[in-house]
Amino acid sequence: MSRKLHSAIDDYVNRQVVREDAALRAARTASERAGLPPIAVSPGLGKLLHLLARIQGARRILEFGTLGGYSTIWLARALPADGRLLTLELDPHHAEVARRNIAHAGLSPVVDVRVGRALDLLPGIEAEGLGPFDFFFIDADKANIPDYFKWSLRLSRPGSVVVVDNVIRRGRVLEAASKDPSVRGVRRFNRLLAAEPRVSATTIQTADGKGHDGFAVVRVE
Ligand code: SAH
Ligand code: DHB
Ligand code: MG
Repeated sequence: MSRKLHSAIDDYVNRQVVREDAALRAARTASERAGLPPIAVSPGLGKLLHLLARIQGARRILEFGTLGGYSTIWLARALPADGRLLTLELDPHHAEVARRNIAHAGLSPVVDVRVGRALDLLPGIEAEGLGPFDFFFIDADKANIPDYFKWSLRLSRPGSVVVVDNVIRRGRVLEAASKDPSVRGVRRFNRLLAAEPRVSATTIQTADGKGHDGFAVVRVE
C-alpha cells in the first residue's frame, strides 16, 4: 500500500472515528507555531493511549517526553478528578508551551510538568513517594528507552501498563549492526522485554500520516 493511501485512510479515520476536539487541535497548532518539531503522537495513537488508560482505570500516570503536551492531554483526560499525571521534559521551551496547552485544555489541576533530564528527575519522584504508577508512556529520547523501562518497572505495581513509542522506526529496528543510538536503544529494550519474566508484551506496527513506525504495549504481571 502506498504512503498516500495510508495518509488518506488516516485522515478518514481521524475524521470519522478518532474525532480530536478543539483543545487538542489547538495544542497541535500552538506547538507548531512555537517552533516545536512535528513529532507528537498521531491522533489515533493519542486516542488509543486515552482508551487504554481509561480501560485500565489509571489514576496515576507517568509520561517520559512532554513536547507540547499533545499526548499529555489525551492521557490526562482519561483520569478521574483526583487522578495525577506527571510528565518529564528536558527542554524548558517545550515545557512552557506544554503548560500553556494543558492549561487551555483545562487540565492544569491534574498535570505536573517537570523540567530536566528524565533520568535525573526519577530518583526524586521515587523519593517523593509519587508512585506506584498505573500507566506509563515512554516517548522521550530513544537511546534511554531501556533505562526508562527499568524505572517504569521499579515504579509500577502488578497490572500497570507501559506503552513505548517509536519502536519500529521505518523498519530500522531490524538493523542488528546499527550504530544509531535510537535503534540500539529500541533493540536493547526488546532484549530486556524478552528476558523479563514479570511482563507480557506486544508490538504493533503503524502506517499513518507520520509514516511507518510502531509502539509496544506491556503489562506488568
Ligand atoms: N509525548 C509527546 C512527544 C514527545 S517528543 C507527544 O506525543 O505529544 C520527545 C520529547 O522528549 C521532546 O520534547 C524532547 O525534548 C524530550 N526529551 C528528549 N530527551 C529527554 C530527556 N533526557 N529527558 C526528558 N525529556 C527528553
Ligand atoms: C522522534 C521522536 C518521537 O517521539 C516521535 O514520535 C517521532 C520522532 C524523533 O526524535 O525523531
Ligand atoms: Mg514518539
